[in-house]
Parts: sequence; C-alpha cells; structure tokens
Amino acid sequence: MKTALITGACINTGVAIVEKFAAEGRRVVFTGRSADKVQEAEKRYKEKFPDAEILGFHINSLKDERTVDEEAVEELFSALDEKGIFVDTLVLNAADQGLGIEIFKNPLTDFMRVINTNMVWNYCLSEHAAKRMKENGGGSIIFINSNTAYRAIPNRIAYSASKGGQLGMMRALAFDLGKYNIRVNAILPGMIKTDRWDKNPEFYKNVPSRFTPIGDVAVSEDIADAVWYFAEHARNTTGAELVVDGGNTIQLYPITDK
Ligand SMILES: NC(=O)c1ccc[n+]([C@@H]2O[C@H](COP(=O)([O-])OP(=O)(O)OC[C@H]3O[C@@H](n4cnc5c(N)ncnc54)[C@H](OP(=O)(O)O)[C@@H]3O)[C@@H](O)[C@H]2O)c1
Repeated sequence: MKTALITGACINTGVAIVEKFAAEGRRVVFTGRSADKVQEAEKRYKEKFPDAEILGFHINSLKDERTVDEEAVEELFSALDEKGIFVDTLVLNAADQGLGIEIFKNPLTDFMRVINTNMVWNYCLSEHAAKRMKENGGGSIIFINSNTAYRAIPNRIAYSASKGGQLGMMRALAFDLGKYNIRVNAILPGMIKTDRWDKNPEFYKNVPSRFTPIGDVAVSEDIADAVWYFAEHARNTTGAELVVDGGNTIQLYPITDK
C-alpha cells in the first residue's frame, strides 16, 4: 500500500498534507515531538478518515542543540520495517522556525539547533527513507522549504541559512538518487495562514507578505496540493523548486496601496 511519511504534522501545514494523502486513500505515517499531541492528532485524523490507515509516531530531532538524534530515526524506520510498512513518499515538513535568534545576542548553539533540525535531521531522515526506496524501486522526497531561502527577513539568519542549505541538499540528493528512481523536490511557500495568523490578527492584517500580485497568502491546502503534485504527478521532475507564495518573491517591492 502506498505510504507517505509526513514530519511535524500535529498542527498547521502538516495537518493539511496528512489530510490530502488520507483523502486520496494513502496510508499516512506522521510525526510530532510530543506523545500526547501525536495521540490527540491521530484520534482526530481517525475520526475524520475512518477508512484510512493513519499512524502517529513521536520523535524529536535533537538530543541537544549540537546533536541530532540519529538513533531515534533508526528506531522509527525499524518500527515501520517490522510492521511491513514501506514509505514511498517522505514529506519533510517539520521545521525549527528559529524565531527570535539575533546576531550579537544569541549563543551559537541557537544557530546550531536550527541548522541541525532543518538540515542534518532532514538529511538523516532522507538517508533512511532513500535506502528503503532504493530497495523497493524508487520513491519521492519532498522538502517543505521557504521563499526565505532566497529573500531575507529580519532576525531569521539561522532559518534562512537552513532553508538555503536545504535547497542545495535537495538538488544534490536529486542528483545522486535519480539512478534509483528516487525523485527529490522542494516547495517554497511564502507566508502560510497557520494558527499564528489566527492568534495575532492585528499583526497579520498589514503584514508585508500579504501584499502579493495574487493579493493574499497561501492556506495550508495550497501547500498540500503542491506536495501531492510532486508525489503523484511529477514522474519526470526531480531537483525542482515550486514556489507557492502568490508571486511574493518576484516583486521588487510590495505594492501596498492596491
Ligand atoms: N508558516 C509559514 O508562514 C511558512 C512560510 C514558509 C515556509 N514554511 C515552512 O512550511 C513548513 C510548515 O510550516 P508551519 O508554519 O505549518 O510549521 P510549524 O507550525 O511552525 O511547525 C511544524 C511542526 O514542526 C515541528 N517541529 C518544530 N521544531 C522541531 C524540532 N526541533 N524537531 C522536530 N519537529 C519540530 C513541530 O511539531 P511538534 O511541536 O508537534 O513537535 C511543528 O508542529 C515548515 O517547513 C516551514 O519552514 C512555513
């Protein structure tokens, strides 16, 4: 049975991705860091999709800021092997947003924490998934990246660096894994309407990212549709970037008086 593994999928964008794959009849494995939140999310998913097979795993990316928890990734994939579950689609959605990390203020370990989760942990997950995809005739790895890989926003040096590095990693993985029929691609959202949007309506009313040629920002389902495209409709596409930001990145500056 076709199976997608989606990381960081108890809230926000990850939920829409899980729901898209479940609605399309796929088995879905998802992760979160808290056992309680994973359990709650699994219950919600099963209520909404009673016919779908949806399994939650709790896993943290790091042992500490400097160290990725490689053993936890091994355990996750071994547990799936034992259940006879082969992940043909890996969606790397979880991210450390690296909020509030300022140069001159924060310790180096904060920078390392973001790079370790967004790059090193995702590399580790890709390696374990790709090993099995290679043995099973291929697969698809999809990074949920960000348009901040290209354009800077304030006080997000670690995050921007991690997303820029992810794109290089995505292309290099696509290059090395193509011969095994493993495709590797990235989606670059601009701002997405998440729970942060709902919690801070005044802030988001005039947020610059809102002033795009399309005139609005993405909802999580827009990102899920892009993931589905790479997973199911992009047989000959690898190493590609799909920007989903309402045209935000192509502007020299936002037109705020429309
Ligand atoms: N929201 C936006 O405006 C926006 C814009 C551009 C790109 N993106 C990208 O889109 C993806 C989804 O964004 P989102 O806003 O929906 O995400 P989010 O709500 O900020 O986070 C998604 C999940 O990532 C997991 N996570 C955070 N730190 C982690 C860590 N150290 N180890 C393991 N998991 C961790 C969290 O899961 P738990 O807390 O359950 O463990 C969280 O639920 C991310 O890759 C993000 O960079 C988002």
